[in-house]
Amino acid sequence: MSRKRILSGMRPTGKLHLGNLHGALANWVHLQNHGDYECFYFVADWHALTSDYAATENIRVNTIDMVVDWLAAGLDPRLSTLFIQSSVREHAELFLLLSMITPLAWLERNPTYKEVKEELAQKDLSTFGFLGYPVLQAADIIMYKAFGVPVGVDQLPHVELTREIARRFNFLYGETFPIPETLLTEVPKLLGTDGRKMSKSYDNSIFMSDRGEELRKKVAAMFTDPQRQRKSDPGRPELCNVYTLHGLYSSPAEVMEIAAACRSAAIGCIECKRRLASAIAEGMRPIHERREHYLAHPREVREIIEDGNIRAGRIAASTLAEVREAMKIKHEL
Ligand code: TRP
Ligand code: SF4
Repeated sequence: MSRKRILSGMRPTGKLHLGNLHGALANWVHLQNHGDYECFYFVADWHALTSDYAATENIRVNTIDMVVDWLAAGLDPRLSTLFIQSSVREHAELFLLLSMITPLAWLERNPTYKEVKEELAQKDLSTFGFLGYPVLQAADIIMYKAFGVPVGVDQLPHVELTREIARRFNFLYGETFPIPETLLTEVPKLLGTDGRKMSKSYDNSIFMSDRGEELRKKVAAMFTDPQRQRKSDPGRPELCNVYTLHGLYSSPAEVMEIAAACRSAAIGCIECKRRLASAIAEGMRPIHERREHYLAHPREVREIIEDGNIRAGRIAASTLAEVREAMKIKHEL
C-alpha cells in the first residue's frame, strides 16, 4: 500500500520560536508519526531570496539552525525526508515551465502579494521573482504529487493558486498532477513577550533554544493582563499570554488552579511567571537534549540533509521526465 504524500516547506528564518513549534512544526511531527503519510519537509531557501535577495549572508546558517530545530522538535529522518529546495535543481526547471502557463493576472490578484509588498515597503519588491513566488511554490508542491500540504491560513491563497496551475497543466498537456489538498494547520494564538504577535522581526520571541536564566528573564518580562497593576487587583487569565502558555506547558489541574488564583488575586504575576518558566524548561527538556546532540554532531545534520536531497531528487527527476514528455520538450537526438 502506498502512503499518501505530505509536503511542506519553511523559509529559512533561522532559530524557531515557540509560535513556530506549537504551530507548523508540531503539526509536521504529528503527520509524520501518524503512520499513514509519507512526509517531505524542505527549506525554501530560494523563496527567501524573493524578499531578501539583497542580504543573503544569513541564509546558509539560518538553514542549518532551522533544520536543527526541526530535528530537535522530533522530525525523524528515518520517517520524514528533510531536504533543501536549492539542492534539487528540478524545482527551478519546473518553476520555469509553470511560469510559461501561469497567467499574470492570477499572480497580480494574489492577496498575499499585495499585503507583503505593503508590509515590506522598505524593500524593493517590484521584481519578477517576488511576483512569481507562488509559481515556485506550486512547483515545490506538484513536483512530489503531494496529496496534502499542511500550511497556516496565510498560505491558503498560494495553495489555491497551486491547484489552479496544476489543473491548467493537466488541461494543456494531459493528466499529470493530482490536485493537492490544503491541510489547514491550527495555530494557537501565541503572543510575543511584548503582547504583539510572536515574530522574529519584532524581537519578542521565546526561542525553542531559550533555557535557564535567559528563559526566566524573557518570561519575567512578559506582558500580562494590563488591568492588573498591583498584586491585589484580580486578574483576567483569559486575556493573559502567560496563562495561554501555561495551557501548553502546565498540567490541566495546575492550569485550573492558576486561573482561579489569578481571578481571586491569590497569586501574583511574578510567582505565576516563575512557575511558567519552570514548566517550559521541563516540557522542553527532550527538545533541548536533542538540540544539544545535533549541535554537537553537525556532520550528522549534514548527512541527514544530503540523504534527504537524494531521496527528493529521485522523485523530482522522475516527475521532470514525465513533464518534459507531456510538454513534448524532450529531444532525442
Ligand atoms: N511560502 C511558504 C511560507 O512562507 C513556504 C513554502 C515554500 C511552502 N514552498 C512551499 C509551504 C510548499 C508549503 C509547500 O511559509
Ligand atoms: Fe497572567 Fe498569571 Fe498574572 Fe494572572 S497571575 S495576570 S495569568 S501572569
